Amino acid sequence: MDHIVAKATLGLTHPAQINHPKISFAAKENELVEWKGDILAVGVTEKDMLKDKNSKFENPILEKLDSKLGGLLSEVSCEEDFTGKAGQLTVIRVTGLGPKRVSLIGLGKGPTGPLSASGYRVLGESVASAAKASQANNVAVTLASSEGLTPESKLAAASAIAKGTLLGTYEDNRFKSESKKPSLKSVDFFGLGAGPELEKKLKYTEDVCSGVILAKELVNAPANVLTPGVLAEEAEKIAATYSDVFTAKILDTEQCKELKMGSYLGVAAASTNPPKFIHLCYKPPNGSVKTKLALVGKGLTFDSGGYNIKTNPGSMELMKFDMGGSAAVLGTAKALGQIKPPGVEIHFIVAACENMISGTGMRPGDILTASNGKTIEVNNTDAEGRLTLADALVYACNQGVDKIVDLATLTGACIVALGPSIAGIFTPSDELSKEVIAAAEVAGEKLWRLPMEESYWHSMKSGVADMVNTGGRHGGSITAALFLQQFVDEKVQWLHIDMAGPVWNDKKKAATGFAIPTLVEWVVSNSAS
Ligand code: BES
Ligand code: MN
Ligand code: ZN
Repeated sequence: MDHIVAKATLGLTHPAQINHPKISFAAKENELVEWKGDILAVGVTEKDMLKDKNSKFENPILEKLDSKLGGLLSEVSCEEDFTGKAGQLTVIRVTGLGPKRVSLIGLGKGPTGPLSASGYRVLGESVASAAKASQANNVAVTLASSEGLTPESKLAAASAIAKGTLLGTYEDNRFKSESKKPSLKSVDFFGLGAGPELEKKLKYTEDVCSGVILAKELVNAPANVLTPGVLAEEAEKIAATYSDVFTAKILDTEQCKELKMGSYLGVAAASTNPPKFIHLCYKPPNGSVKTKLALVGKGLTFDSGGYNIKTNPGSMELMKFDMGGSAAVLGTAKALGQIKPPGVEIHFIVAACENMISGTGMRPGDILTASNGKTIEVNNTDAEGRLTLADALVYACNQGVDKIVDLATLTGACIVALGPSIAGIFTPSDELSKEVIAAAEVAGEKLWRLPMEESYWHSMKSGVADMVNTGGRHGGSITAALFLQQFVDEKVQWLHIDMAGPVWNDKKKAATGFAIPTLVEWVVSNSAS
């Protein structure tokens, strides 16, 4: 018989199960002005907004709309000084036309070529906010000058707009006692192609977004709700949902001890929430494998700093997001469970735990022994992420993989160097760097390669052990990367992503779901077509 065991969550908080209504996307090829619905949104560049000497739009689509509206568009653009600058948005209530409202959305300068993926994503986000403001159920989206685009860039544009719309509409209300459902249900694209190619691309976009949303929810969840055990359950759920391609293995403290993961267990030792070492394995449906990959994520469900406690005001209360790397890894797993790329085997690895303070915890000065036999003098208990990653990287190499990408909210120094929206990447491999940067470009995410300056290793020397775990403030992200390199087999191509900045959006007070679009793109580019 089944026993229902009520789980005691500190603070008695349980996230509400909210079903997010699916937004459906369709491609239309009939006349734009005949479309009937709530909002017709037109993406316009500054060039599109130019008028001829008779004060008429030079752009044929805008001119046609404007004449149907008796010159309203051109009036509004003058009154509101709407020139098509990036981020500008205007919504006009109209009568006597198919759509109830017409919205112009600025795309910026607008050269002859296509916009970047992130430019189109921002357009989608504006569509979402226009829909929210006027409670719209359905929206049509077009670009004032889409004719100039190649079929491929039309596909890329539609995909990026869909991504912005989907993610812009999503709100995480699981921990609010009341919440309103978003109104938007359908989006019709005009002039961005049609047919099976576009449908396939939009399905791919939806799969990626479902992974992004999972990651946002994992990161937004507070540490009293999302313990290492709950994170492991979430991983098992992914494996169960896509059981045709995934298997899950969760190692407990005893099993990690057998594998001699002293570095990881040292970090976990202070917490009463036991550590969980998560390993999901993806095998393609048809079996044949050409390339083996690993994605390794830092999974600190909370980082108090340990005995080297975080004392700066504002530095500790957001440390629920210190499992952002693992959220990126699991979000990517969820997306790939649906996309099912052929020819690649992928290992998803997270050494999940909490960095707390107690009599059972590691002290500054303690020496830990990692699973590759290397010894580490802990000169700062707040540099815990690299200690957990050390054993996770050794484990990843033991899976016989060709390439590893690890992701971590590893250093405050990386935020100082690159600001909040750019992640730092570190790798000895120019080839892998190129691959990941190319994927990020397609995905519309920002990465910047920083050097692995070997001469900085001197600051990581210990008098008693093989190394210390921190090398001081200067070049703090670089010495962290050099530390990780000590645990990676030289024969394996490896790249480290420090996403301490982009994991969180301070303005929105919410997780971003960073890195999943890039990782999915990278895996697909490594898969056999
Ligand atoms: N999780 C933090 C890094 C971090 C800090 C991420 C701020 C996002 C915002 C990491 O575990 C940490 O504490 N790093 C230390 C390293 C130092 C002790 C060498 C840091 O960056 O201060
Ligand atoms: Mn820390
Ligand atoms: Zn940390």
